[in-house]
This record gives sequence, C-alpha cells and structure tokens, in this order.
Amino acid sequence: MTDLFSPITLGSLQFPNRIAIAPMCQYSANDGCASDWHLHHWMNLAMSGAGMVTVEMTDVERRGRISHGCMGLYSEANEATARRTLDAARRVAVPGTKFGVQLAHAGRKASCQRPWEGGGPLRADQDAWQTISASAIAFDAGWHVPHALEDAEIETVILHWVEAARRAQRVGFDFIELHGAHGYLLHQFLSPLSNTRTDRWGGSLENRMRLIVTVAQEVAKAVPELMLGVRLSVKDWVDGGLTEDESVEVAKALKAVGVQYICCSSGGNSPLQKIPGGPGYQVHLAEHIRKGAGIAVRAVGMIDEPLQANQIVASGKADFVALARAILADPRWPWRAAATLGHEIAVAPQLVRGAHLPKKWVKAA
Ligand SMILES: Cc1cc2nc3c(=O)[nH]c(=O)nc-3n(C[C@H](O)[C@H](O)[C@H](O)COP(=O)(O)O)c2cc1C
Repeated sequence: MTDLFSPITLGSLQFPNRIAIAPMCQYSANDGCASDWHLHHWMNLAMSGAGMVTVEMTDVERRGRISHGCMGLYSEANEATARRTLDAARRVAVPGTKFGVQLAHAGRKASCQRPWEGGGPLRADQDAWQTISASAIAFDAGWHVPHALEDAEIETVILHWVEAARRAQRVGFDFIELHGAHGYLLHQFLSPLSNTRTDRWGGSLENRMRLIVTVAQEVAKAVPELMLGVRLSVKDWVDGGLTEDESVEVAKALKAVGVQYICCSSGGNSPLQKIPGGPGYQVHLAEHIRKGAGIAVRAVGMIDEPLQANQIVASGKADFVALARAILADPRWPWRAAATLGHEIAVAPQLVRGAHLPKKWVKAA
C-alpha cells in the first residue's frame, strides 16, 4: 500500500518518500544572493530526511522581489552564491534528497518590507520601486499601484523566467517549481480579480492562463533535464475570483506542456478572501485537481501530524504532502513520522544517537 514513505517517480526524478518541505521565504538575501543564513538553513533542511526540499520563492528579476531580502536568480552573483549554498547542502544531505527552487515574480506584491519590518509597501525613503502586473490595480488600499504590462513587456518577463531557469540548472537544482499562487504575478494574470485586460492576456480563462502556460512551456523547453512543477492558488476564496474548476483546466494545460505536479495552495490575491482555516484545509483542493486533471499533486496547509499526513497519501488524496511551519518548528519531523509509522529513515551517522529511533529504523547516511 502507498504511504508517506513510499518512493515516487516524477519525470526522471525518484523521490525516496512523499514528505516535501514547502518553499519558505527567509527574507535574508542580499540583492538576491543567498547569505550565511541560507547556508545554515538549507544544510539543516538537507538533513531532515524529507525527500523533496523546495527552496524559497526566488525571483526571476530584481523588481520581482517581495522585499529587499528576497532571493533571486537574476545575476551572476545570485547564481554563484546559490551554487555554493546548494553544494554545501548536498554534502550533508540524506542520500536521495531532491532539491528544487521555486521561481517567482511578486508583480504588484513586490516592493514590500520584510515581515518583521511591518510587511507593508515600502515607503519612498525605503528604496521602493515601480511594481508591475496584469492591470493597474493595487492589491489593497495604500499599496503600490502597479504598471500594467504592455504586450512586448510581457514577452520580456517570459524571457526572465527562462533565463532564471537556465541559472537554476547551472546551480544544480533537480527540479523547478513555478510560483503561480498567493497573489504573485502569475496568479495576478490567472485571477479575474487582478486581471481586467481585454487583449490576448486577459478576459477568458484561456487568455488569463496564457502567461503561466507559456512560462511553463518555455521553461520546459529551455531546461528539459529539470523536473517541472507548479504551485497554484486553486481558488481565490472571493466571489468572482478564480475557482477550483478553472484551476482544473489550468492544471490540464500545464500538464500538456510538461508540468509533472501541482502544489495545491489557495488565496493570497485579495484582502477580501475568506479562508476557512483548520487542519488540512486545502487537501480537498489537491484531491480535486488530482482527479480532474490526472496529474500528481502536493497537498499543503496545516498538515502537521504524521498520521494525518500519512492518511492524505494513503487515501489517494495527494501524492505528496508539503510542510512549512511544522518543519520550521521541528526540522526532524520526518524522524518523528518514521517512528510513528514504523518506517526506516536514513539519518546522518553524526545524528543517530539523537534520533530516538529503535536501531532497526536507522539507516546511517
Ligand atoms: C516563513 C514562511 C515563508 C513562506 N514563504 C513561501 C514561499 O516562498 N513560497 C510559497 O509558495 N509559499 C510560502 N509560504 C507558504 C508555505 O509554503 C505554506 O504554503 C503555508 O505556510 C501553509 O503550510 P503550513 O501550514 O505547513 O505552514 C511561506 C510560509 C511561511 C511560514
């Protein structure tokens, strides 16, 4: 029976288990370059035992960063520091761990303060910049009004995604995840709440999904060796917003251009959203996409307990589970899951004595 510790193959990549670490911004980069914080953080995640480690939202151009502290892959320096950091993480990683990077563009939600500095739009004296989007509609009152991209400018943005994907390949990542969720640029085009265009990039669903599908297609063509996934906000949780049935069509179109999995998140594109939170509150969205589009899915959102995570995979609702806050709190969560479910898990020999696992469950790396 398939469970949390069953291996899974996507494209040419074999994952040792179904535990994924969700992308998590650290707001600790310097002009897009990974810092010592990332060195520590990625090395720590590499030792967790999770089969899939997704590095934080990493922006394809400088003005696509949420904050001055966001990671990027838009310069030689970004590429060099990411390579150094990933190389170090691989040296301590549990064998079989796969590393991916979430490529992103914040669009109208760029030019913001780090969360611990307030998280609001940067003021003029904080080196704010002009943001971009599908339409000149601010995220909320008091937020930057984005510049609505011209047709030719959209083509240039697509080239930035392709160039960043090439950099991701040179850095040595195993897979790329395109960030199409949480109200960032690709989601801004997908959602009628933020896209009121009347040209080929707006209006019908086919037009609204043109940017994300084109980006996926071009990235797949540019770096065919890298497995490709996409994170979607499957619904906006706002009347008149993107729906889960529309997202099924988006997922089908993405699958047709070579995307191997959809990570099913939701919301983030409107301050009016009403999200009924709670344990596993987005799992039904993953199940909906899996059934409707026939593509592998990653469930995410308040999946905190090993038995809960295992049930999601074993019942066929999702192929992977992704954890964010639970992993920040307990980077050895996969050890706990292995102990709870009675599975073997590889543990670095230096850490074995702290693993509190019966010997038969410990495979030293
Ligand atoms: C510190 C932090 C940073 C995050 N950064 C990202 C990110 O870079 N990209 C993304 O898609 N989601 C990001 N998220 C959302 C998580 O990936 C995840 O979807 C969300 O936290 C729900 O999962 P959880 O309940 O396991 O935390 C972030 C969440 C946290 C807590």
